[in-house]
Amino acid sequence: MGRRALRKIDPSLDLSRHLLTLDQLPRPWQAEVLFGRRAPLEVEIGSGKGLFLRRAAAARPDVDFLGIEIAPRYARLAAAGLARQGLSNAAVVIADAARVLQEVLPEESAAAIHVYFPDPWWKQRHKKRRVMKEPVARDVARVLHPGGSLHFWTDVEEYFDTAVRLFRETPGLEGPFVVPEAPAAHPMDYRTHFERRTRLHGETVYRALFCKR
Ligand SMILES: C[S@@+](CC[C@H](N)C(=O)[O-])C[C@H]1O[C@@H](n2cnc3c(N)ncnc32)[C@H](O)[C@@H]1O
Repeated sequence: MGRRALRKIDPSLDLSRHLLTLDQLPRPWQAEVLFGRRAPLEVEIGSGKGLFLRRAAAARPDVDFLGIEIAPRYARLAAAGLARQGLSNAAVVIADAARVLQEVLPEESAAAIHVYFPDPWWKQRHKKRRVMKEPVARDVARVLHPGGSLHFWTDVEEYFDTAVRLFRETPGLEGPFVVPEAPAAHPMDYRTHFERRTRLHGETVYRALFCKR
């Protein structure tokens, strides 16, 4: 993410329902412990400032959303946005998504996995830090329900091509399916902050949708 000063979080805001650590995730996994009900679960890898989580949780109250964000200051900001809006169907865990997928989420536990602009490290030498590698792709396929969806968007063409190749080679995933770009109906009508930033700069967003067979 950019280095601009982040919005200050109101210290009186209670983040206890919306901000979690890896240790606080129930093992064995039970989404009901976090959200107090049984509902379809969608997972976002790399939530950043949390625009996707806020908008999706408000628009689809029948679905629960778990954001995974490795940077504590962004996770706090995303959680604060959820707490401010009183959204009880979304939470953010401060963790490496690779660990949450591998260690916590069981087979067929998610209806969708969202990965938007996952690459803050665009330099050649930083590619090894990328989250979307073979073990994570295999875990994504394992964690999705049959018929579940994987959404992968980025502004980095080379990362997009590499990830699409990886998903095509991952047993159980089918795609890529085309995702058309929708015009923004209002100034915040973007999937994420990075989509907004990329499109306002007139740059290309590469989007792919895969489905679990
Ligand atoms: C470029 S930002 C995009 C944020 C948001 N998805 C958006 O589109 O506005 C990438 C985010 O992914 C997070 N991230 C990178 N690797 C991660 C990992 N292994 N697990 C969880 N989050 C990760 C970064 O900390 C950063 O907040």
